[in-house]
Amino acid sequence: MSRVRERWGTKLGVVLAVAGSAVGLGNFLRFPVQAAQNGGGSFMIPYIVALLLIGIPMMWVEWTAGRYGGGHGHSSAPGILQSLWKSNPAVKYIGVLGILGPLIIYMYYVYIESWTLAYCFYSATGALSEASANGQLPSFLSGLQGLESNQWFSGMTAAFTFFCITFALNISVTYFGIKGGIEKLCKIALPALLIFGVLLTIRIITMDWGEFNGLGFLWNPDLSQLSSARIWLAAAGQVFFTLSVGIGVIMTYSSYLRETDDVPLAGLSAASTNEFAEVILGGSLIVPAAFIFFGPENIVNIANSGSFNLGFITMPEIFNGIPWGAMFSFLWFLMLFLAGITSSISLAQPLVGFFQDEFNLSREKAVMLFAAMTFILCQPAVWWLANGVMDDLDFWGGNFFIVLGATIEIIIVAWVFGIDKFWAEMHVGSNMRVPIVFKYVIKYVTPVFLIGILGFWIAQDWWDTITMKGVPAENVPYVLGTRIGIVCLFIFLCVLVKIAWSKRKHQTGKEVQS
Ligand code: ALA
Repeated sequence: MSRVRERWGTKLGVVLAVAGSAVGLGNFLRFPVQAAQNGGGSFMIPYIVALLLIGIPMMWVEWTAGRYGGGHGHSSAPGILQSLWKSNPAVKYIGVLGILGPLIIYMYYVYIESWTLAYCFYSATGALSEASANGQLPSFLSGLQGLESNQWFSGMTAAFTFFCITFALNISVTYFGIKGGIEKLCKIALPALLIFGVLLTIRIITMDWGEFNGLGFLWNPDLSQLSSARIWLAAAGQVFFTLSVGIGVIMTYSSYLRETDDVPLAGLSAASTNEFAEVILGGSLIVPAAFIFFGPENIVNIANSGSFNLGFITMPEIFNGIPWGAMFSFLWFLMLFLAGITSSISLAQPLVGFFQDEFNLSREKAVMLFAAMTFILCQPAVWWLANGVMDDLDFWGGNFFIVLGATIEIIIVAWVFGIDKFWAEMHVGSNMRVPIVFKYVIKYVTPVFLIGILGFWIAQDWWDTITMKGVPAENVPYVLGTRIGIVCLFIFLCVLVKIAWSKRKHQTGKEVQS
């Protein structure tokens, strides 16, 4: 018996869900660190160029491809790419990247999300203000992460408990489905986190800034730095990560659209909401606050000293020095938690959708299978944080596969499926016409830009990455294990694709590609 395909409930709901997927820890934790490490204002020029030339075009490509694939009964990249390129049976295996990428990010993202929940709790109990007053916030974070035993934490009990709660919350939302779980949560969580973000921003920008121009760090570019390839790569990587494009997530969400949904407008609305959260809110919170409190040199040092130091150490320290600090600290971490969970549920959906569509499983069974698999897969990042597992997962899932996936996707859409067919398909049911210049951007500029980024990566970093240059000797077995694990996961997913398509072949008596 075939299942009835799930659909979004309302047009607003789908925009909020996609924006929820995009607005995440990347906006509030990753963006400020990237900006601080890459020259502040100098980072914003490549960032805006990358947003216009790859971010927004990729958003439209994924929305259109997803809706098209959904019309053929697929909600994950193997089936969606196969429906776009029917004559090539190998393309469904390339589509495995669109399940593998989000899965790899999920394997560490839920754990970071659980720290934000823990920090909400400790803001409310007063433990965080106490640690801050004693200048012990770095110890507090290390203790929670199980990296040291101290007066606050001993072992992994707290970290593992918060991880299990966060994991269970994620699975519960996914269990209730597209309309009943994901859309319902995002309709409440996204407006709530934006309101919290606005309140926090007002609080930060009304502080006494003394001699410092806090916003100037992000908005005064030093044009001489633009010749650095590193800044361009970092900006492009951030645009991908923040918009959730290139990993198959948006494609999966848009596969639940109806033919009559306005893809150009919805894609643009979701991207704009994300940019408001990232540039206006994310850019006005941590960066100026840290700049005011710690000065221009120190902000770069803090960012360089650890990816989470700005969010988990600097912000509570700043809040501790102001009236109602504990409440603002609670609001900050609650905002991060809501941003995190609306993103992590989107990272789960490609594999859940794959189980549902390609193995004809009920949503409940698909979610339970996903939960059993990912509970085990998340453990290495939880227990071997200090051994470089999370950083390596972030490199492959959060950087490399995103750019590779986006390059493959845009070539298939613009060159194999065909730009004219894509353009017509994108505008089905749409009231908004995308300016014609984007047709040429999508056909030529975005693929060239993406191939250029991949080329730079291969030239600059490939060999050092493969040979694990710079990885401390004691971490090598863990990093190697992570990579072997990723390869095994890829092979396993390819085998699942093979089984799913052979089953179809037997059912229909002939090879079915779409
Ligand atoms: N787009 C999500 C984020 O920014 C993954 O965190």
